Amino acid sequence: MLKEQEAAYRCIEVTPQASGFGAEISGLDLSRPLPAEALAEVKGAWAAHGVVAFPDQPLSLEAQEAFTQAMGGFGVDPYIAPMPGHPNVLELRREPDETATNFGAGWHSDWSFQAEPPAATLLHAKVVPPVGGDTLFVDATRAYESLSPTMQAMLAPLRAIHSARQAYGTSGVFARETAKRTLQIMVSEEADGSLSHPLVRTHPVTGRKALFVSPVYTVGIEGLTEPEAKAILGFLFAHLTQEAFVYRHRWREQTLLMWDNRCTMHFAEGGYDGHLRLMHRTTVKGDTPV
Ligand code: SIN
Repeated sequence: MLKEQEAAYRCIEVTPQASGFGAEISGLDLSRPLPAEALAEVKGAWAAHGVVAFPDQPLSLEAQEAFTQAMGGFGVDPYIAPMPGHPNVLELRREPDETATNFGAGWHSDWSFQAEPPAATLLHAKVVPPVGGDTLFVDATRAYESLSPTMQAMLAPLRAIHSARQAYGTSGVFARETAKRTLQIMVSEEADGSLSHPLVRTHPVTGRKALFVSPVYTVGIEGLTEPEAKAILGFLFAHLTQEAFVYRHRWREQTLLMWDNRCTMHFAEGGYDGHLRLMHRTTVKGDTPV
């Protein structure tokens, strides 16, 4: 990894990942409130790199909550019971004896079925298994930019239909699940609903365009028949998840990871049956995608 030379950063050190997608940020203690200049630099680096890791941050729940608030305020996390006494924190705990598929094991951008999906998700690693449990991220900006101008023009007017139904709906994956799961998931009729967002969205900070679809939450395209939408979405899902656009995050305990849901998708890998994995997760509220 190369250290970023930009004079833009006076308070933090930003080391971009070798692939050019994602970065590590050091030089901060996130257990205390950040001075305004440092916070502005963190926001800038996060917008520029999409996925930023803060290693060696032994954070309390309160410190993670405070940093999430400083980044823009809490998002709304539906369908999962929060931690007692911490209504904005989800504890992603998978016990060694759990056999249910690990949470997040499908490509998605968090809560994209909401009218204002969260701008960021923050995940703090408390217990990392000795094998497996990586999180993969797709750079949906570069994926968009690598499409031909003709394909970009074809996608420009389209609105993709998003729904939580395949996961949290009354006939979704979790409704049919029988295996034990520590995470308390609440299947709901509300999850069967849907809404649409631009298929290509423009990042409010960088102004760059990104594909905004995912296999878990995108269920159609407005104005297209099901087979037509399936063909286009199938192509886009395969295009997005090419190795060239993927960053694999290998966890270390006490790393805080923060990703931008407006221009990335992610996938939580399994492969750690027999081991505990424990993360604390918060979201930062976002805007209506445009
Ligand atoms: C998620 O999709 O939010 C979970 C990611 C992870 O556990 O790595």
